[in-house]
Amino acid sequence: MRVFDSKASVREFTSSLKARGRIIGFVPTMGALHKGHLSLVNKALTENDEVFVSIFVNPTQFNNQNDLANYPRTLAKDLEALRTIEGVIHVFAPTAEDIYDDHITSSEFDFDGLEFEMEGKFRAGHFDGVGTVISKLFEIVQPDNAYFGQKDYQQLLIIKKLVSKYEIPVNIVGCDIFRESNGLAMSSRNELLLPEHKENASFIYDTLKKAKEKFGTESANEVSEWVDKQFAGHEFLKLEYFEIADAETLKTVKRKSSKKRYRAFIAAYANAIRLIDNIPLN
Ligand code: PAJ
Repeated sequence: MRVFDSKASVREFTSSLKARGRIIGFVPTMGALHKGHLSLVNKALTENDEVFVSIFVNPTQFNNQNDLANYPRTLAKDLEALRTIEGVIHVFAPTAEDIYDDHITSSEFDFDGLEFEMEGKFRAGHFDGVGTVISKLFEIVQPDNAYFGQKDYQQLLIIKKLVSKYEIPVNIVGCDIFRESNGLAMSSRNELLLPEHKENASFIYDTLKKAKEKFGTESANEVSEWVDKQFAGHEFLKLEYFEIADAETLKTVKRKSSKKRYRAFIAAYANAIRLIDNIPLN
């Protein structure tokens, strides 16, 4: 496994891979790798000749400086986890200065309104930061296929929009959500939870599953009210938003249509730790 720390060295290497006709898969991450990340890497390995994994805590997508400062950075452990996987894996672990040429700022993107829903409302500038870093990483790694988790469903749609709208020749592959045995969606931030909170944060997924059941017979409004009530009584989880949205446009559902696909989304805080999850409803 080769570990690259500069974009110049990756560019040179990927150009030589391309010249040899090798198919390149890419899994962008911010590190603190868990089984969710590794499931993306394994999927990429089955569909490509070689796989790049980037490990880069991207400063421009953090709207909260405390969150950025506290984000777990565990490079040695991450490399160890990747070494246990069979297959040709390359790692790109750059510095912010190298990625941003010393101008650590985002470009502005137009994602046709996807960026103004949910996470966009609560994390100003977040998707401009994601769009900026992913455009840069795609340009450096030149992947054929890139893998993103449905755990960050809005991000997945935004990346699909990014490549179609800005004509970036990368195929985007969405991957299933990987969960802890209690149902909690795996996240690097889970490591920051108190053990008892981690155990009880399965409440988020349990609520999503019950919401899905209720959505069979109740209106989106009724389900939302029910979810609000569940969280109102919770001892440590604070609901930031619950949303039932069109799975393509992410617009809030007013009236159900049997022709559309819907998804339910939750963002909640356990003390200062922000957790998100979602579920398909039909
Ligand atoms: P990060 O949170 O490290 O996630 C990297 C990728 O792993 C994302 O595509 C995310 O959706 C996926 N992922 C995380 N937890 C998962 C789980 N439990 N099951 C399945 N997939 C999961 O998302 C980012 O980093 C960044 O925004 C990034 C895209 C790297 C840009 O900086």
